[in-house]
Amino acid sequence: PAPGWAIEADVVVVGSGVAGLTVALRCAAAGAKVTVVTKARLDDGSTRWAQGGIAAALGEGDTPEQHLDDTLVAGAGLCDERAVRTLVTEGPDAVRRLITTGARFDADDHTGEILLTREGGHHRRRIAHAGGDATGAEISRALVEAVRAAGIDTVENALVLDLLKDGSGRAAGVTLHVMGEGRRDGVGAVRADAVVLATGGMGQIFSATTNPAVSTGDGVALALRAGAEVSDLEFVQFHPTVLWLGPEAEGQQPLVSEAVRGEGAYLVDADGVRFMRGQHELAELAPRDIVAKGIMRRMRERGAEHMYLDARHFGARMWERRFPTILAACRAHGIDPVTEPIPVAPAAHYASGGVRTDLRGRTTVPGLYACGEVACTGVHGANRLASNSLLEGLVFAERIADDIAGRSAEDPADDIAAGGAEDLAGRGPEHAAAGPRSAGTAAPARPAPDAGGPPLLASESRYEIQHIMTHGAGVLRSAESLARAADRLDRVHDDAAEELRRDGKTAEPGVETWEATNLHLVARVLVAAALRREETRGCHWREDRPERDDAAWRRHLLVTLRPDGA
Ligand code: SIN
Repeated sequence: PAPGWAIEADVVVVGSGVAGLTVALRCAAAGAKVTVVTKARLDDGSTRWAQGGIAAALGEGDTPEQHLDDTLVAGAGLCDERAVRTLVTEGPDAVRRLITTGARFDADDHTGEILLTREGGHHRRRIAHAGGDATGAEISRALVEAVRAAGIDTVENALVLDLLKDGSGRAAGVTLHVMGEGRRDGVGAVRADAVVLATGGMGQIFSATTNPAVSTGDGVALALRAGAEVSDLEFVQFHPTVLWLGPEAEGQQPLVSEAVRGEGAYLVDADGVRFMRGQHELAELAPRDIVAKGIMRRMRERGAEHMYLDARHFGARMWERRFPTILAACRAHGIDPVTEPIPVAPAAHYASGGVRTDLRGRTTVPGLYACGEVACTGVHGANRLASNSLLEGLVFAERIADDIAGRSAEDPADDIAAGGAEDLAGRGPEHAAAGPRSAGTAAPARPAPDAGGPPLLASESRYEIQHIMTHGAGVLRSAESLARAADRLDRVHDDAAEELRRDGKTAEPGVETWEATNLHLVARVLVAAALRREETRGCHWREDRPERDDAAWRRHLLVTLRPDGA
């Protein structure tokens, strides 16, 4: 539909987590007129749910070089080392600036020094936390307050639809669908010279996830429709320890932070055996993909639906002081971690891939930037290191704001054409078509098409997509399961297309139908990439290709939709 209203700005930021609000604050401080649009309320995204913390070499004896090493190991050969170096060297000062903005981290009562914990894959204590296990909530509080204090224009309840481009193909704003915001209701537009996608992740493509309901891959779907390049979508990280609420549990599930293991909790099976011992030198604190696989393997061997995390030895006082959020969530579900082990199983947690960017956050579409979970800057490779995500949002947000303000140091090697998807093993990156039925044919070029164009999916399709993805493209995948998932996803599309052809109308345009349509596009591309990557690496675990294959696969899979949507 044509926009019924429009806002003019210099910069439009889509999303209001750590990445979006940091870009907005820094652009506004540089004198830009900024509008932040966000799908629900300002603090409803994933940032608020982050528990463990934010990783940075802040502790005595720690160095960015050690943080770099741990990040590269976790990334399983696919990190862009320049991007990681940027992250770890600029990270400590970015965290200090966040503190100046107002975020309060847990600190020693006497010395005032920031307290640091450990998480999987880190050889040192380097995770700063707040409120014990409510780090994201504190960061979100501080940034939302700062954005309000700075008087930055915000539009809530606004689902972004599509990118607007000028005659030269440069980003010129976005269209959005807004509900309940008075004069800015319905379909409207924000016109701006720079568009920053900071829409977060896509965990809702699976049935069980730690992500909130708003994480439906809208930014990646928009970028694909706009012709931007997307990379590494096959690397979905499953968090090893999510509170297990039964086989039918759906939607957002309570996280049990890695920091609980960082403080000494251990994983056991129903017989109390510590099965991670002997699997990795760091046992329960191995990188996340290794722990998730360890749990899945043991579940299979035992025919069990979950394993246990045992932290009874913390005692009530430590639980209450250090992990109040997790304690409350467990107790709300009838489990008392002070007296019993916590049932846990892996669930979808983080998209390591996303919209491909260079070191200044620029995508392959001029004027379009991506930051935070929606982006693929190259820092995560095949498996993100714990607590690097808030840091990535912070560091690359600052770089994007500086680029928009014309303050970045010009280095031709930073250019999107040269960086990001660099050739890691002497071979070029590969473009993954979505198979004989391409992702494009399974997805609309525009989300609200006229009759005769591609269909908008009914809101109930969301559950079908989640079911298909959980069974076909979850923690364990194979060519067979992925091909079946691709077929079933295509059928979801074909049924809607057939209805459109027959009845001349599509599902009613609205937030839920657009979300379902976005989930479908992202899921279809993810499945295509996962099918193509015929190896096991990081968090991509192919049962039919159990080995890592550096000779053939130490490279990235890039996806773009052609202008005709194919
Ligand atoms: C956690 O607290 O375990 C989550 C940290 C992360 O995802 O980086």
